[in-house]
Amino acid sequence: MKHKTIIEPFRIKSIEPIRLSTEEERIRHLEEAKYNTFLLHSDDVIIDFLTDSGTSAMSAEQWAGVMRGDESYAGSKSWLKMERVIRDLTGMEHILPTHQGRAAERIIYSYLGGKGKTFISNTHFDTTRANIEYSGAEAIDIPIREAYDSALIHPFKGNMDTEKLEQIITEKGAENIGAVILTVTNNSGGGQPVSMANAKAIRKICKRHNVLFLLDCCRIAENAYFIKHREEGYGDKSYREIAREMFGLSDGAAMSAKKDALVNMGGFLALHDEKIAQECTNMLIITEGFATYGGLSGRDMEAIAIGLEEVFEPHYLEYRIRSTTYLGEKLHEMGIPVMLPIGGHAVYIDAKRLYPHIPPHQYPGHALVCELYIKGGIRSVEIGSVMFGKYDEEGQLIPAAMELVRLAIPRRVYTQSHMEYVIETFEEILRTREEMRGYEIVEEPPFLRHFTAKFKPLK
Ligand code: F0G
Repeated sequence: MKHKTIIEPFRIKSIEPIRLSTEEERIRHLEEAKYNTFLLHSDDVIIDFLTDSGTSAMSAEQWAGVMRGDESYAGSKSWLKMERVIRDLTGMEHILPTHQGRAAERIIYSYLGGKGKTFISNTHFDTTRANIEYSGAEAIDIPIREAYDSALIHPFKGNMDTEKLEQIITEKGAENIGAVILTVTNNSGGGQPVSMANAKAIRKICKRHNVLFLLDCCRIAENAYFIKHREEGYGDKSYREIAREMFGLSDGAAMSAKKDALVNMGGFLALHDEKIAQECTNMLIITEGFATYGGLSGRDMEAIAIGLEEVFEPHYLEYRIRSTTYLGEKLHEMGIPVMLPIGGHAVYIDAKRLYPHIPPHQYPGHALVCELYIKGGIRSVEIGSVMFGKYDEEGQLIPAAMELVRLAIPRRVYTQSHMEYVIETFEEILRTREEMRGYEIVEEPPFLRHFTAKFKPLK
């Protein structure tokens, strides 16, 4: 028989207890954390959806690899294994290990960037943009138009607008383009996938203008799932073959291994071009570590090598994407305004539509983040006016375009019953939505305020 229940395709060998708390305790914890969930102790959180980055559960095989890790300074066999797996996956000759994604970004974008350069992406992730801008270059986001409508169904809402790409390259002059960066899946755009057809079109444009085409590939296995199931001609290909095809279109890739390599720390840079690789290796040795470990321990490299194989396992990927979809669709059916279609690693809630009576300057997304913690001990993250809001000259808030809340799902960590618990919490949120009040900021730092700002609930 064909079962309709998607079970976790693993058994649990080692457990990490969750300390259950009462609503009264959580109200106190939140008050002590000045209503900023970044300042909570993780012990006081029941379900942690803050990020899917570095929060994966490793397999027994990966833990065995940890014990086998070769900690030699040079020529470690764990490095040779990691290098072999990544060369085989990406088809690229030069592999540089880094301690996480942004270290790979710093190395490549400080080399390619600088004043007068422009980088173009479907959407630059925050750290990507920050590294580019820090070099003095500019970063332009050109997702397709459909990406801006949170309720619109489109199979590849992560795609880049290729017409605009052509236009910007022509306008700026190809020699001033640092690189075109395709983020798969598009995290900032809701974890939405990018089609192979889009990657091919970008390849063609970049080739014609002789512009470098890079992938930000930290969720490329999840992206491959969507291609196999949504794009014509890919149904019979394996997830791995699809990922390899996409790597094959690009000139290089930066990866945060903390996502689809199923590890808690790590990253790499993969490149075809020898000259760029040489320059980057110099920077790697100065700032991260020798070329055969970068910022990593031998044991980390073992775990990455194994994780990059496990992530393409069909049963794993099917469970992964379908369990995220399960949560998202249940919330949608219940009437919670979610971003559609549901992406790969997270469910995004449109707090502006959930709490239409709370204006942006009273931070509806933040209100939902606090309420999720109080009602269920669930930690999420606001991606709205707390994170991206700015002030004008009169000190009035210029709100962000959207007031979203992200529930990012760690890989292989939570079970179906955890998801049921989250869904139940949302039932209560829906029941009490009209009583919900906004928040004000009482103290904030000049940069990245969401991490440390202090808030007060409005009466
Ligand atoms: N690129 C993308 C698309 C990412 O999502 C991230 C991290 C990075 C690069 C940077 O990698 O953290 O290893 O330095 N995203 C995390 C998140 C932080 O929560 O979405 P890193």
